[in-house]
This record gives sequence, C-alpha cells and structure tokens, in this order.
Amino acid sequence: MSDFVHRPVMAAEVLVALKPRPGGRYVDGTLGGAGHAAVLLAASSPTGWLFGCDRDGAAVEAARCRLMATFAGRFEIRRGNFAELAAWVPAASCDGVLLDLGVSSPQLDSPQRGFSFQADGPLDMRMDGRQSLTAADLVNGATAEELSGIFWELGGERESRRLAKAIVHERARQKIETTQQLATLIERVLSRPEKKAHPATKTFQALRIAVNDEIGSLKRGLEAAMAVLKPGGRLAVITFHSLEARVVKAFGNARTRGYTFVGQVDVPELRQPRRPELKWVTRKAIVPGEAELKENPRSRSAQLRVLEKT
Ligand SMILES: C[S@@+](CC[C@H](N)C(=O)[O-])C[C@H]1O[C@@H](n2cnc3c(N)ncnc32)[C@H](O)[C@@H]1O
Repeated sequence: MSDFVHRPVMAAEVLVALKPRPGGRYVDGTLGGAGHAAVLLAASSPTGWLFGCDRDGAAVEAARCRLMATFAGRFEIRRGNFAELAAWVPAASCDGVLLDLGVSSPQLDSPQRGFSFQADGPLDMRMDGRQSLTAADLVNGATAEELSGIFWELGGERESRRLAKAIVHERARQKIETTQQLATLIERVLSRPEKKAHPATKTFQALRIAVNDEIGSLKRGLEAAMAVLKPGGRLAVITFHSLEARVVKAFGNARTRGYTFVGQVDVPELRQPRRPELKWVTRKAIVPGEAELKENPRSRSAQLRVLEKT
C-alpha cells in the first residue's frame, strides 16, 4: 500500500460540503488511495457507510487494504466506472457523493502507466487496464483530423494540426510506442522556449482524456450521482481543468433552473416551468488555501463545486 499514496485534495472543504454524520451513506466514485474515503468514514463514525469505486484495479486494492485496517464492515468497494454507480448503489439512498476527478499521484508517477512525459514508459494511459484502447493505439491509428480534433478540443493545443501532421509523418517511418518518443517529437515540433509548461503538457492531457473517455464518463457520472442521492443529499465534484469544470457548471446550471426549454436556445416565451432538481451550495469554485498549495503543489488547479438535491 505504501506505494499507492495520494494526498486527498481539499479534504477539510469536502467535509464541510458533505457534512458526514453517523448513520449517513456516502459514495466515493474516485477512491484512488482512499484518502477522502478514510476521511469520510472517520467523520461518520461509528455507523456511517461508504460505497466506493475506481476504474483502476491497483487503486481499488490499495483502497480496500487501507480501509479494512480501520473501517471493516462499513463499506462496499467495487472496481468500475463511476458512470455505472446507479447499477449497484441503491437509488435515492445516499447523503453525499464525491467525485475527485482526474489521475492520482501513483498513476502519474508510475512510468509503466504511460501518463507522464517526464519519465519513459509505454504510451498506455489507461485508467482501467482491462480496456483495450491505449494512447499508442490512438497515436498510431487515428487519422490526422482525428488527432488534431483531440489535441484541440481536449487539450486546447493551438498547434494541433501541425502536431497531428508531424505525428502521422513520423509514425509512417516508425511506430510511436513510448512516452519519450512522443514527448521528443512534440518538443521538436512545438519548441516554445518562452513558455513555462512543457510543450507536451496539453497533448498528453488530451490523449489521456480521450483514451479514458473522461468527459463522457463525467456526464454519465453526474446523472448516476443524481440517481443515488436522496433529497437533501449533496454532490461534491473536484475538477482539475476547464473542460471538466465546464461540464459540472453546465450540469448544475441546467438542473438548478426552475424551467426547461426545448432545443438549444433558451427563448423566454417557450419556457416550461418545473421544480429545480438541484440547488447550488457553492457555484463559485472553492480552491485550495495557501497552506495546501504550499504542501501539495499538485492541488493548484483543483476546484470544488457543491450541489444539493432538492
Ligand atoms: C485524483 S484521484 C482520487 C484520489 C482520492 N480521492 C484519494 O483521496 O486518494 C482520481 C481517481 O479516480 C479514478 N477515476 C477517474 N475517472 C474515473 C471514473 N470515471 N470512474 C471511476 N474511477 C475514476 C482514477 O483511476 C484515480 O484513481
């Protein structure tokens, strides 16, 4: 377990948001190393219950091992996507759901998982190793248009077309199979000495999001959270980049409105009144405090938003 340690981000703020109490039932859809899960179980002692899942088999085992030591008999853990939560967590039964999105430190720091351009490893990036699609499959198999779409839409890479063309050119010569092959190619094509971030940052983020269908999973996961929460129950989501944040804001805004509208455009005359399904507890993102930022630099892009089921 010692090699699967992830510091939970904004743990104190999550406790304020979800208000765990004895007898309460909580969901952690992104167990990771069970940092937040342990905090939720401790704060709901002695009778609080936790349903937990993660797509990553190593995370699930580490979480199980950690939680068994202190909270045996108070949790149910499964390996799987949080998008499928509602298939096994009873409907309208939970007081709180936490989604702490993205990758964990152990995933990022294991070269063999292929998430990082800072170490050499296979170009993998799968959160769930049972999935067949890898980053190498995309990089070597997608068309230049598809690659450029991924880099632009999921990474905001302005040079997406140039980069996609260079990849297609390079892979005709030699398959791109490792993180260093790709990172070196990106450095060559997009050298930006004036920028602070490594030139491969956006491309690696985009590939990771695509390989794991992170945006699709998030949209379905928010629906699943709605289904398992009871009225008054709270949903806390920690995002790490603007694409995720946009999905959470759009979901919250749509479900907190007192009306629906047909089609893409909100025409006031065509509004249909309805009772909002959710209310914002904190629409404006909560961000880590100075002390946490200093202690855990990886928390710097974290944003917490909280909604309550009506
Ligand atoms: C930032 S870490 C969570 C860390 C955790 N809160 C802790 O305190 O240790 C994100 C975790 O969510 C998992 N994950 C990401 N998307 C997922 C999804 N759609 N379904 C299930 N797990 C997911 C990743 O595998 C990773 O272990």
